[in-house]
Amino acid sequence: MNIDKIKKEFPIFNDKVQNHDLVYLDSANSSQKPLVVVDRIYDFYTKEFSNVGRSVHYLAVAATNLYENTRTSVQKYINAKDKDEIVFTKGATEAINLVASTFGQKYLKEGDEVLVTELEHHSNYVPWHYLRKSKGVKIEFAEINEDGDISIDEIKKKITDKTKIIAITHLSNVTGAILPIKEIVDLAHSKGIPVLVDGCQSAPHIKLDMQDLDCDFYAISCHKMYGPTGLGVLYAKKKWLEDLPPYQGGGGMIGWVKKNDIGYGELPNKYEAGTMATAQVIAFNESISFLNKIGINNIENHENELLKYGEEILRKNNSVKLIGNPKNKGGVLSFTIDGIHPHDIATILDEDGVAIRAGHHCCQILHDKLGLPASARASLGVYNTKEDLDKLNYSINKCKKIFEL
Ligand SMILES: Cc1ncc(COP(=O)(O)O)c(C=O)c1O
Repeated sequence: MNIDKIKKEFPIFNDKVQNHDLVYLDSANSSQKPLVVVDRIYDFYTKEFSNVGRSVHYLAVAATNLYENTRTSVQKYINAKDKDEIVFTKGATEAINLVASTFGQKYLKEGDEVLVTELEHHSNYVPWHYLRKSKGVKIEFAEINEDGDISIDEIKKKITDKTKIIAITHLSNVTGAILPIKEIVDLAHSKGIPVLVDGCQSAPHIKLDMQDLDCDFYAISCHKMYGPTGLGVLYAKKKWLEDLPPYQGGGGMIGWVKKNDIGYGELPNKYEAGTMATAQVIAFNESISFLNKIGINNIENHENELLKYGEEILRKNNSVKLIGNPKNKGGVLSFTIDGIHPHDIATILDEDGVAIRAGHHCCQILHDKLGLPASARASLGVYNTKEDLDKLNYSINKCKKIFEL
């Protein structure tokens, strides 16, 4: 892989940040955007704009085709069986809310259990918490082991005859743990329990195959996949989309409307009420082409090599404590330094143009478990290099000097 060439596709790296070359290590938060994606948004608004799925004029039909082309590209990218299993949402958060709300409405009652893990992002906890408040549903937590990982045995232990759905991350945005989703789904299905997977951190980094994983729902965040903000994808097996009620009501999702009743539209329109993020959807096709052009296996290999290198140099750096040592790990390096608050680390690194994230990364339950108010996190993307990680280490050392460690 020619990273220099790939990096040149991202305009953000052309300029200095605070007089430094940008070392962007915050892709788990949101990735940078290649020019093709930005250009696609510009071109759509300036040359091709129309709303989709409504009018019959030339621009409207062309825009509808472009919008649907992205759906097909997403279907292929994740190897879903049917294009109608792809629903656009405003983010992974909305995708999970959609499932929690509709599944909760139809299938959950007081005393039923939702099994999540201690690794979950707030987006895969709070929507279920609402059901605790509104319906008296119980939330059970599969607990992390000392490596910041979730074992299949732990999942087995936490499933009861009250478990009605498992909602679980594929790749932790803090410990980097890649969970054995296929095994978890097999286990859950053997007990008749559906599985929702939060795929925000996996979709840009590892190969996805919905037919192989066999999960029921999979939530994706497009802005972490070199795509536009304001867009997510919910993959759901067709049987669920047919079975569950719509999430929101409005134009686009109806089949017919009378004074005394309504009929729902065909799939996937049933779940896409109102004017959607049209430009973002159309531009997201360029993100998928970008990922496909490089090849997800090449991206995974590249990031694994960087991850190993990053772990090696940070482990050698005394006083840096890496969080988690899971069996299978994706490109996330979360760490603490005794005596320096993560926000101070991030602020000092930023002075060198090294962009990382500090805080609880929307995983307060996990940080509570680890006994940490916050952590620092460097996360990898396709444009990162070993030099970026050297600069990270260099700035960490500078930080330690300032704090006289
Ligand atoms: C693991 C995980 N789940 C869910 C989300 C929420 O995604 P979105 O920003 O698309 O709503 C994020 C984003 O930070 C995430 O990292």
